[in-house]
Amino acid sequence: MNLREKIENGSAIVGVIGLGYVGLPLLAAFHRAGLPTIGFDVDPAKISALHEGRNYLKHLGDELVTCLKSGAKFEATADFARLAECDAIISCVPTPLGQHLEPDLSYVEKTAEDVAKTLRPGQLVILESTTYPRTTREVMLPKFEARGLKCGQDFFLAYSPEREDPGRKDFSTQTIPKLVGGIDEASGALAVALYRKAIKQVIPVANAEVAEAAKLLENIYRAVNIALVNEMKMVLTAMGIDVWEVIRAASTKPFGFQAFYPGPGLGGHCIPIDPFYLTWKAREVGMSTKFIELAGEINHAMPEYVVSRVSLAMNDHGKAVKGSRVLVLGLAYKPDVDDVRESPSFELIEKLEELGAHVDYNDPHVSATHKMRKYDLQMHSVELTKENVASYDCVLVATHHAAYDWQFIADNSKLIVDSRNALRNVSGRREHIVQA
Ligand SMILES: NC(=O)c1ccc[n+]([C@@H]2O[C@H](COP(=O)([O-])OP(=O)(O)OC[C@H]3O[C@@H](n4cnc5c(N)ncnc54)[C@H](O)[C@@H]3O)[C@@H](O)[C@H]2O)c1
Repeated sequence: MNLREKIENGSAIVGVIGLGYVGLPLLAAFHRAGLPTIGFDVDPAKISALHEGRNYLKHLGDELVTCLKSGAKFEATADFARLAECDAIISCVPTPLGQHLEPDLSYVEKTAEDVAKTLRPGQLVILESTTYPRTTREVMLPKFEARGLKCGQDFFLAYSPEREDPGRKDFSTQTIPKLVGGIDEASGALAVALYRKAIKQVIPVANAEVAEAAKLLENIYRAVNIALVNEMKMVLTAMGIDVWEVIRAASTKPFGFQAFYPGPGLGGHCIPIDPFYLTWKAREVGMSTKFIELAGEINHAMPEYVVSRVSLAMNDHGKAVKGSRVLVLGLAYKPDVDDVRESPSFELIEKLEELGAHVDYNDPHVSATHKMRKYDLQMHSVELTKENVASYDCVLVATHHAAYDWQFIADNSKLIVDSRNALRNVSGRREHIVQA
């Protein structure tokens, strides 16, 4: 039976490499569609959690992993020789930045080498990691062709960007439209057929490069617009105008305006990182990416700006930052998830400590910090009791988790600096609430 027939009759074995925020829900989507699945990861803790039916990604719920243990075949393994068993292999490994904002493709390269070792005729390989245009063709393809197999004939290769937004309730992996572009026509068509088994709307695009660049455009669009509202926030705040009210007013226009919101800085695996993949690749064709760099400059300055607002607010209350106690609310980079990657809260804590404050944090989703690439704070989330909240000189709102009772926080804090407009609806006294 050839690959297309296996895909059509649902017997194609789908292997997903990298079982993180992107890979795990993707694997579950194929499994739910009835296809046999094998999950691959280098992290033994993830493999054993899946064997035990535990979900390490809390926002997806334990039900997802329980379902994997019933119905179609599902296995999780760190044995990459088993890639040979798969008919389709989808790679969802990290694509971070190096120390000098250069793309770190080491995970993608390692995966491509693992796949190449057992690559056989009839296999379809798809890259989902966010990356610069031509990665699939220039980084992955040569490793596979070195095995003496021909793309589009013996094996197939495509790119399909992940558009996951963890924690989102109105869209899921199955309902987010999926872009798919092949290295050649045959590869693109097979990848489209595969995704159509599990995902509602699959959109074929001209080639892998269009799909790679479309993902970057989506993220750059966000980074640039977030920078724009952050700049508006600083200017309007200096004029004594509430930026949140301004955005609300502008949002009443039914066309030509999309609301973006200011914050304490960018976070997560995508928006602070991905745009610089294009910046790096653009140099190869002698171009610079001015919008990306300007947006990066403004967004990266946000934690410093928020700390300066804390400092001014405390000064107005007759208090110096040095020797004060500050409570940061929210360590995750966005509401209702436990993802702390690139979270600006870490920089806020670091900068406040540099000024001599004693800083604690509370996050209902992050009970303790763990060692990260840049930070190792070794902190634990403190309790939000009435007495505890009241004991801080300043409460800094960094992430607006739905679990927070803002009225309780407003009623019991001495001073609040709110970088998310989280306290917009609280009643009673407001003189102690400052926007940042
Ligand atoms: N998280 C998001 O919201 C999101 C959204 C869209 C796109 N993306 C992109 O998807 C990709 C993956 O992101 P993520 O958030 O899922 O990352 P993640 O860190 O949550 O997951 C990556 C997984 O890959 C595993 N891994 C690392 N090296 C490996 C290897 N050589 N072989 C097998 N497994 C390996 C890690 O152990 C981890 O479990 C990135 O390129 C990211 O930019 C992420």
